[in-house]
Amino acid sequence: MSIEKRFFGKLDGKGDVDIYKITNKNGAFVELMTLGAGIHSINVPDRNGKLGDVVLGFDDVNNYLNPDLGYQGLVVGRYANRIRDAKFSMDGVEYNTPKNQGTWTLHGGGRFSFNIWEVKETGNDFVVFSFFSPDMQDGFPGNFTMNVKYTFDDSNTLKIEYFVLSDKKTVANPTNHAYFNLNGAGSGSAMEQILQIRASHYTPVIDAKSIPTGEIASVDGTPFDFREAKPMGRDIEQANDQLSYGHGYDHNFVLDKERAGLEKIATAYSTKSGIKMDVITDCIGMQLYTANFIQGQKVQGGAVCKERDAFCLETQYFPNSINEPNFTTPLTEAGKSYDTKTVYAFSIA
Ligand code: GAL
Repeated sequence: MSIEKRFFGKLDGKGDVDIYKITNKNGAFVELMTLGAGIHSINVPDRNGKLGDVVLGFDDVNNYLNPDLGYQGLVVGRYANRIRDAKFSMDGVEYNTPKNQGTWTLHGGGRFSFNIWEVKETGNDFVVFSFFSPDMQDGFPGNFTMNVKYTFDDSNTLKIEYFVLSDKKTVANPTNHAYFNLNGAGSGSAMEQILQIRASHYTPVIDAKSIPTGEIASVDGTPFDFREAKPMGRDIEQANDQLSYGHGYDHNFVLDKERAGLEKIATAYSTKSGIKMDVITDCIGMQLYTANFIQGQKVQGGAVCKERDAFCLETQYFPNSINEPNFTTPLTEAGKSYDTKTVYAFSIA
C-alpha cells in the first residue's frame, strides 16, 4: 500500500484542494480530496483486469461546489438528507436550519460538503479528514467535530469511518454521496446493473419534496422490492406515485438488520464489466438515488452524464428522522463520541 499527495485545484475564494491517492499492491487506487472529505475516484479492475473509475467525479474542482451538480462523492453533514420545514425541536428548544432547498434543509445546508477539510493523519493505506463546526452554525447546537477516515486495502475494499464529537447534545447523520457506475463513470446508463438490497420495508414520501410520510411500508409487490437481485431500472418506469415523486428511485430503505454492527446489506453488479460492489454498514437506513436530477454534466475525462447514468447508495438514518416520532433520531450526547462505518467492497463476480 502507498499514499501520495498532490495539488488538485484552487477553489474560488476558499483555497487549495489536495488529493490523497492510495494505491494497493495490484495498482488499484482511490483518490480522496480535502474538499468535502470527498471521493474523487475509485479505480478497480474489471473482469479483464483493466482499471476503470467507478464513481463520477469532476476534472475541475470548482464544479464540486455547485449543489445542482449533485454533491458528487462528497461527505454530507451534519445531517444528511431532508429536514422538514428546516427546523426541529430538542428538549423543548426549536432550532432553525438552512432552507437550502425549497422550504426544507437538504444535506445539512451543504457546509460540510462544500468546504475544505483539514488532514489530521495519513498512513500508507489511510487518510483522516477533519471538519469543525461551531455551536449554532447553520442552526445546529454544539461545537461539533467530524473526522472521516478512509482506508483502502489490497482486496479493493474502501472503508469509511465517521467519528463525531459535540460538546452539547445534538443531531448527527453523516453519509457519503458517491455516484457509482460499475461500467465506469460516463459510460451511459447504470440501470441495467443488478441491485439487491436487504430491505423488506422503505419509507414512502409525501410528494415531490421527498420527505417521508413517517410510514414504514412493505416493499412487497412494489417496485421497491430489491430483496431478489434485479436490474436497477427494471421497474423504474412503472406507474407508481412514489416513483413519479422522485423521478425514479430517491427513497430510503429500512435495512433488515439482525443485530447492531456491520452487516452486508446491498450488492450491485455489472454483467458487462464483471465488477461487483458489496455495501456493508452499521447504519439502519440507506437512500437509493438513481441520479434522477443529473442533467448533462461533464464528468472526468469529458464524458457527459445524464439522469440514471449512476446510482447512489447513501447509508444513513432515515430522512427527517429528527421530526418524525416513528423514526429513530440520530442523537449524539454531549462529550460522548459517536461513530459509524460503511464499507464499499469491490470484487469480480
Ligand atoms: C440525494 C437526494 C436527492 C438529490 C441529491 C443531490 O441524497 O435524495 O433528492 O437532492 O441528493 O442532488
